[in-house]
Amino acid sequence: MAMTLAEELKGRLRAGLAACGFDEAVLERVGVSQSADLRFGDYQSNAAMVLAKEAKQNPRALAEAVVAKTDVSGLAEMEIAGPGFLNFRVLPEAFAKRVAGLCGDERLGVAQVTEPERIVLDFSAPNVAKPMHVGHIRSTIIGDSLSRIGRFLGHEVITDNHLGDWGTQFGMVVWAWKKELNREALEADPLAELLRLYRLASEGGKADEVIREACRKELVKLQQGDAENFAIWTECVGYSLRGLERMYVRLGVEFDHWKGESSYNERLQRVVDSLIAAGLARESNGALCVFSSGEGKPEEDPFRIQKKEGWEDNPMLVRKSDGGFNYATTDLATIDFRVEEWGAKKILYVVDHRQSLHFRQLFDVARRRGYDLDLAHVSFGTILGKDGKPLKTRSGDLPQLEDVLNDARDAARVTIEERSKLDDAAEKDALAELIGISAVKFTELSHHRMSDYVFDLEKMVALEGDTAPYLQYSYVRVRSIFRKVEGEVDLKAVAVQLEEDAEVHLARMLVRFGETVPVVLDDYRPNLLATYLLELARAFHSFFEACPVLKAEEGVRNSRLVLCDTTARVLEKGLSLLGIAVPERM
Ligand code: ARG
Repeated sequence: MAMTLAEELKGRLRAGLAACGFDEAVLERVGVSQSADLRFGDYQSNAAMVLAKEAKQNPRALAEAVVAKTDVSGLAEMEIAGPGFLNFRVLPEAFAKRVAGLCGDERLGVAQVTEPERIVLDFSAPNVAKPMHVGHIRSTIIGDSLSRIGRFLGHEVITDNHLGDWGTQFGMVVWAWKKELNREALEADPLAELLRLYRLASEGGKADEVIREACRKELVKLQQGDAENFAIWTECVGYSLRGLERMYVRLGVEFDHWKGESSYNERLQRVVDSLIAAGLARESNGALCVFSSGEGKPEEDPFRIQKKEGWEDNPMLVRKSDGGFNYATTDLATIDFRVEEWGAKKILYVVDHRQSLHFRQLFDVARRRGYDLDLAHVSFGTILGKDGKPLKTRSGDLPQLEDVLNDARDAARVTIEERSKLDDAAEKDALAELIGISAVKFTELSHHRMSDYVFDLEKMVALEGDTAPYLQYSYVRVRSIFRKVEGEVDLKAVAVQLEEDAEVHLARMLVRFGETVPVVLDDYRPNLLATYLLELARAFHSFFEACPVLKAEEGVRNSRLVLCDTTARVLEKGLSLLGIAVPERM
């Protein structure tokens, strides 16, 4: 299996340390990482400092001994910095060798994991009967990218769209449907009519407790199998699913399963019985609740909450006083199902940070029920408008995803009119759709998922800046070079030679692809890949400005063509892992 440069250097360093007399167990802990600043070389290790401290030696003296014993010939130069950092400056010929290797490597230097995991990825999960709004975009885009990256690394990823198709909003829609349904409007535009009904109940309920109560009753009836309510529900879900599917096609997002909350209805009673039997749940004010286990500190206990009077219980509800089950009950049943039917060992929930308490409670209850599972809440922040407040439409509603995508497409169309050389209208339309959607995705993925970001369409579709079109344009530009190459060049047979700094730097960035993709899954951060791609594209543009390709003499030209081709392949592959396609012309 292909080793990354960091791994190769680690091996050499460990051999050097062994020659200095350190034993196996110590060497296991020695690592080499990318330097944050190239002035300190490409890679660094703090091994000499750590080991000197443990052995009560002088760190610089140890570092010198290590440098003397470590053979990095043909690979790098070693230097000591500060109190005993070991810095590695990779040699141009080592980069050249690696780039030549990437040329024939379909995986572009990204190794498969040695221990594949079966990972259930729970993402998107909009609430049916309400159109998908822009808040769901974060979950959908982050989740889709994580599934692509997980699979590319060799994990067995099962994607599941846990639709909210059984909750409170159905009590509301059913109630309004019975009172106010306009059949004609429903036939003309089902989602709009469903939204109208939902709003009727939600506005009405805000002002009137009687309406709220009536909606709750409709929900309980539905969940207990009432035929009329079930028929209404089925019709609503049908319309909604068709609307959602249209959106997912546009986004290029697919799921292995669409197991909404409703599909766990039959399991809910069983879950509650087992919680009672295990002594985990008890009644409180008519509702059935899970309380704290009393194990950890209250600060870390999701079942305790600090009030002025001190710590109070903050239980998880699993059955309401009216007999209805809760969101949490469904999530517990869902874990049972995913373990029993899919053999899940790890479940990732890509959900808004506002649900963090829910997931902390859920994971704790799962643990107390005896599950030994790796459960993680892949949380994310809020999308903001230009005013710095959560994004809203002019009328104060949450923007609908479809409108957002249309706006992005239209903004991209404007850029294309200004900048593109294309003249065929249909081709420009297709490109506008591609760039618009890509821009929305890339903006999402280039931010740290926990930070809020401002949704600024003009910036997102700009050709300059940290944008998808910048990367897509970079790809197109590289590809266009090959249309002008005369004669056939067998890139795999070319001797890669790196002379100019800009060439070395581009090679360095290409080689880093194999080190970047795997770390995305450490903390579920696609932004590491997104920012890497921007840096690669910038390295390419600097190279292209400094180093003529087609006009260079044949040996140099061919070597530079290898750099160009590998850049295009890494851009294409990297973007595809973010769910973004590249055009051939723009
Ligand atoms: N439907 C929920 C919402 O829109 C998200 C569901 C997330 N997944 C889960 N297993 N709870 O807020």
